[in-house]
Amino acid sequence: MNLLVQPKLIIHGGAGSSLKDKGGVETVRRSLYQVVEQVYSLLMSGASANEAVVKGCQMLEDNPCFNAGTGSVLQSDGQIRMSAALMDGTAQSFSGVINITRVKNPIDLALSLQDSPDRVLSDYGAAELARELRVPSYNPLTDTRLEEWLQERQDNFKKTMAGVVAQKELVSNNNARRGTIGVVALDSQGNLCAGTSTGGKGFERIGRVSDSAMPAGNYATKYAAVSCTGIGEDIIDECLAPRIVVRVGDGMNLQDAMQRSFIESQENKRDLGAIALDAKGNIAWGKTSQILLAAYHNGENIGDTLEVSQEMQVGKV
Ligand code: GLY
Repeated sequence: MNLLVQPKLIIHGGAGSSLKDKGGVETVRRSLYQVVEQVYSLLMSGASANEAVVKGCQMLEDNPCFNAGTGSVLQSDGQIRMSAALMDGTAQSFSGVINITRVKNPIDLALSLQDSPDRVLSDYGAAELARELRVPSYNPLTDTRLEEWLQERQDNFKKTMAGVVAQKELVSNNNARRGTIGVVALDSQGNLCAGTSTGGKGFERIGRVSDSAMPAGNYATKYAAVSCTGIGEDIIDECLAPRIVVRVGDGMNLQDAMQRSFIESQENKRDLGAIALDAKGNIAWGKTSQILLAAYHNGENIGDTLEVSQEMQVGKV
């Protein structure tokens, strides 16, 4: 395989409150590293950034620990509605589905819309697409998420959102936590792609739209690609992903673009995180939340951000 550039990869499984202890950290680390190892070897064998991102998102959606696909949180009415988006940086083409139900991998539908004249479909339209593509009906509900919702119903929905990871024993308290999954890849031909998928905040109103299937939460050009996590409304208000990507396109280096965007987010008291790659192969991440569940492959090593607990932190790999 002719490697024009060294492939790079960064993924996330959400942002939020700190994980409970070393055991919680190790469980999440194992899940993330498994995805990084498999997807990075795909990139090394010549897979495109789009293929790698879709594979990574599928694996994270299939892990019941994370809030996307299987293990998605329930909304206020007890239903699961999922959203996902894919953005091909070379084509600068965004596609996605909003509030889809009863499918295993929402990212597959986002991928199928890349070549469609109508590239973002919501509820009924997304369901019709799934039928048209003969996607088998699938129930993404897990016992843990159902119990979480039943408990919240008993408490009259005092919590404003559900947990970032689905296992109670992995998180340190029951305060607000935010789950989403995301993958950003640079392939051997220099193409960038970003993908993001979520079950939403949990306990939200019917019809609420997540940032994950908007450019605000998932954006890529030929210069840079970003996937966000955190409170959707905060990400939308900052228009975070395009804010970072456009800065890089205008000539700012990736680290400075992240630093500036996260200082602004912090000043505006936002609760969010993001992972990013640029076309030169630089990898970066940032957060204003307590933790960001991110892991990466820089061409030599695998690393992660799981034990970076200081708030408002921007890092480069
Ligand atoms: N960032 C995921 C959501 O707020 O829905």
